[in-house]
Amino acid sequence: MSEGVLPRDPFERRSFLNWFLGTSLGAFLVSVFYPVTRFLIPPKTGESAAASVTLDLKAAAIKPNTGQIFKFGSKPGILVRTPAGELRAFTAVCTHLNCTVQYREDLQHIWCACHNGHFDPNTGMNIAGPPPRPLEQYGVSARADKIVVSRSAPA
Ligand code: FES
Repeated sequence: MSEGVLPRDPFERRSFLNWFLGTSLGAFLVSVFYPVTRFLIPPKTGESAAASVTLDLKAAAIKPNTGQIFKFGSKPGILVRTPAGELRAFTAVCTHLNCTVQYREDLQHIWCACHNGHFDPNTGMNIAGPPPRPLEQYGVSARADKIVVSRSAPA
């Protein structure tokens, strides 16, 4: 054996290799399971506490047999002027699998494109397709140049 060169301890190398493989495996497992866990258990999002929303719309400018989506807190709502001229507002979240509904002028009612669900524009009642429940109805109050939609159901 030459002078100045120490023999390498095979146990030292082995323990380093074990440490390296152990931490690599740990990092790999964390990088795989953390995103999967975050996907399966999404963070809780609180329901918007907003009791009402004011829309910058003039009621007189909304034509009969039309509908438009608006944002109510974190969820979409739909404002409808029925063919008879009544203003109605509902949640725009379909009661089947949570797709956003829309107003179909040709059908004269609210429609969900995901699975062909149909809702009555006067009551939000589910009238055809797979939706199991009506759309939640909101109160609508037309002011001079604004429309106030509130969570309280119309009287
Ligand atoms: S999500 Fe609306 S009909 Fe299925």
